[in-house]
Amino acid sequence: MKNLTIVQNPLILRDITYLRNHETREYQFRAALKRIAYSLCIEISKSFKTEVIDVETPLEITEGHRIKPEIILVPVLRAGLSLVDAFIEMIPYAKVGHIGLQRNEETLEPVEYYYKTPKELSTSKVIVLDPMLATGGSASAAFSFLKQRGANDLVFASLIAAPEGVEKMSKDHPEIPVYTASLDRQLNDVGYIVPGLGDAGDRTFGTL
Ligand code: PRP
Ligand code: URA
Repeated sequence: MKNLTIVQNPLILRDITYLRNHETREYQFRAALKRIAYSLCIEISKSFKTEVIDVETPLEITEGHRIKPEIILVPVLRAGLSLVDAFIEMIPYAKVGHIGLQRNEETLEPVEYYYKTPKELSTSKVIVLDPMLATGGSASAAFSFLKQRGANDLVFASLIAAPEGVEKMSKDHPEIPVYTASLDRQLNDVGYIVPGLGDAGDRTFGTL
């Protein structure tokens, strides 16, 4: 898929291993996830436009840079919240919207239960955050909702993707760049990514 970027480095490989390990406790899980989020953010930032500005050092005026578009982060509740802190630390002026989607565990269809985004949606780069791209139903729905409200510069940041989810994104939203730290083998018969890491929301918040 041409819009898929798999972000990898030795630190990510190590941290994905922590995330996959079923013995990893919540605080370790959150810390590993946050470290991977920094790497994802750096990779995604390579697509940000910058503009040249003057900056006065203690010695002279020289060339500096400022990031041009406003950035809006949109975590998909609940598991997407786990990625927000790292992205906010790297992009401190970012605004944050929220989309509440939950999979119906029988139909696997996403159900919207919350929506609130900043008004600058159509003039900002919007980074949707969700660690898991499984069937792709939630991500595809989130992007459809955001497009309906005017967003047009969109990116998806995930941690683990299944081929089925990547396929759905490329069919429903072919223009949207998808970043992930791992492309896993497949979905199992109840829609979980395998080998995966289990339920990202439950493992982040200790609701297993
Ligand atoms: C998880 C995950 C995604 C969704 C992915 O959320 O965070 O939002 O499933 O699955 P899909 O690609 O098949 O739609 P979940 O519904 O478990 O809700 P939670 O974040 O509240 O745990
Ligand atoms: N949601 C998760 O949290 N994990 C999966 O494997 C699939 C969907």
